[in-house]
Amino acid sequence: MFNSILLLVPIIHALLFTSVNSMRFTLKSGEPKCISEDIKGNAMTVGNYSVVNPGEEGYPIPDSHKITVRVRSPYGNNFHFGNHVGSGNFAFTTTEAGDYTACFSVLERKPAITVTIDFEWRTGTAEKYWYKIAKKDQVEVMEYELRRLYESVSFIHDEMFYLRGSLLLL
Ligand SMILES: *[C@@H]1O[C@H](CO)[C@@H](O)[C@H](O)[C@H]1NC(C)=O
Repeated sequence: MFNSILLLVPIIHALLFTSVNSMRFTLKSGEPKCISEDIKGNAMTVGNYSVVNPGEEGYPIPDSHKITVRVRSPYGNNFHFGNHVGSGNFAFTTTEAGDYTACFSVLERKPAITVTIDFEWRTGTAEKYWYKIAKKDQVEVMEYELRRLYESVSFIHDEMFYLRGSLLLL
C-alpha cells in the first residue's frame, strides 16, 4: 500500500554559478577601467568589490581611495551605481543578452594615485528542482541530490545578503 507514497519536496531555487570571475586590479586616478562579461538573457548575476585598504587594517578607506562603480547592460541601462564608496555589491537578473560592463573610476588628482580593487563577478541561472519520491529505494537518490543541493543552498544564503544589500540601494 505504502510503496506508492508520493512525496513532493517543495521547489527549491538554486543558483548555479556557471561563471565565476575573481580578480584584483589597479586603477589610476582619472583613468577609468571597465570589465565586461558576456551574459545570456534571464541569467542571475552577482558581484562584489572592495578597495584594498592602503592604510592599516581596521582603518576606514580614505576618501581619496573611494571609487565610483557603474554596471550597465548592453543597451546602456544602469543596473548598479556605487557613488564614491570603499566597497559594494550588486545582484540582478539580466534582461537582454550581451556584454554587461562594470566600470570603475577614481577622481582625478595630482599627483595621481593608484587604487587596488578586488572584484568578484559570478553569473549563472536560477533553477527549479522538483523531487518526486515514488518508492522507498528512491530515497537514496534523493539523499544524494539533497547533499548536492545543500552546497548550493549555503551559497544562496550568501547571495541573499547581496540581494538585500542591493534592494536598499533601489
Ligand atoms: C565577495 O564576497 C565573498 C563571499 O562573501 C567574499 O568571500 C569575498 O571576499 C568578497 N570579495 C570582495 C572583493 O569583496
